[in-house]
Amino acid sequence: MKGIVLAGGAGSRLYPITRVYSKQLTLIYDKPLIYYPLSILMLGGIKDVLIISNKETIPHYKQLFEDGAFLGMNIEYAIQDAPNGIAESFILGENFIGNDGVTLVLGDNIFYGYLDFFYSALKNSVGATIFGYQVNDPQRYGIVEFNKEGNAISIEEKPIKPKSNFAVPGLYVYDNSVIDISKNLKPSARGELEITDVNKEYLKMGKLRVEKIGRGVAWLDTGTPEALLQASNFFGVIEERQGLKVACIEEIAYKMGFISTEKFNELLNSLPNCAYKDYLVRILSEDF
Ligand code: TTP
Repeated sequence: MKGIVLAGGAGSRLYPITRVYSKQLTLIYDKPLIYYPLSILMLGGIKDVLIISNKETIPHYKQLFEDGAFLGMNIEYAIQDAPNGIAESFILGENFIGNDGVTLVLGDNIFYGYLDFFYSALKNSVGATIFGYQVNDPQRYGIVEFNKEGNAISIEEKPIKPKSNFAVPGLYVYDNSVIDISKNLKPSARGELEITDVNKEYLKMGKLRVEKIGRGVAWLDTGTPEALLQASNFFGVIEERQGLKVACIEEIAYKMGFISTEKFNELLNSLPNCAYKDYLVRILSEDF
């Protein structure tokens, strides 16, 4: 299974920050936003990751993650010339994906809590698995309609009259046919290759699973200044309370066995003296 983090976009709601670079480099409490979606892929055991963004921001990601070796990963990069839509990820990532399945996570989507819903989706090798998460403002999202048996029967992008409150979060698990499906899409009225159209195609083929995510999981999408502040406060509270970090990619790489103790020590030695390093030193010495 390959992973893609789509981390470009116009970011118009976060102007002027996004005049300089894409929003996924902005700070959520104590680390860049992109650490959170990247950590979800890592927790799913995915070591091969493609980061897609605009040409201004790619050099910054390269500075952050290099080739991924320090995390025991292979991290590659691709430029999206313009925000042509989420489904363009699979066209830009065609060579990277090769013959594998692929999980796409949007660079501004954060998941926190028990991730069993994701782990079980990764076990399906055929078709697509997307998720449904109950929200208060369904007009803003792709919305899934379920029948009485709990099967998805329709998906609508930003409906004026939503048929349910279940939004589709920015985390999608696909088999390899997603590449061909994306290549055959026509741009929508807003000129984008829509991920909703990819999912509709799987639905038409009878190969779409939509798993509901329970209320014990937090799904935060951080497209506005208010949402960024809320997410920072949320993770600030949790990290302060537990003394444990969320989405600390070095810790995850170590705990997932991507890197050995020796490599982890090397990594620690490369960090400046700071609270983040102190935390990682603690991880090494304590058994959490
Ligand atoms: P959106 O939130 O739909 O859009 P945006 O980030 O461009 O922000 P705004 O609406 O304020 O202009 O994008 C969802 C995520 O997908 C976000 O992480 C950006 C990313 N994205 C791309 O990288 N390329 C694209 O073509 C699109 C549509 C989104």
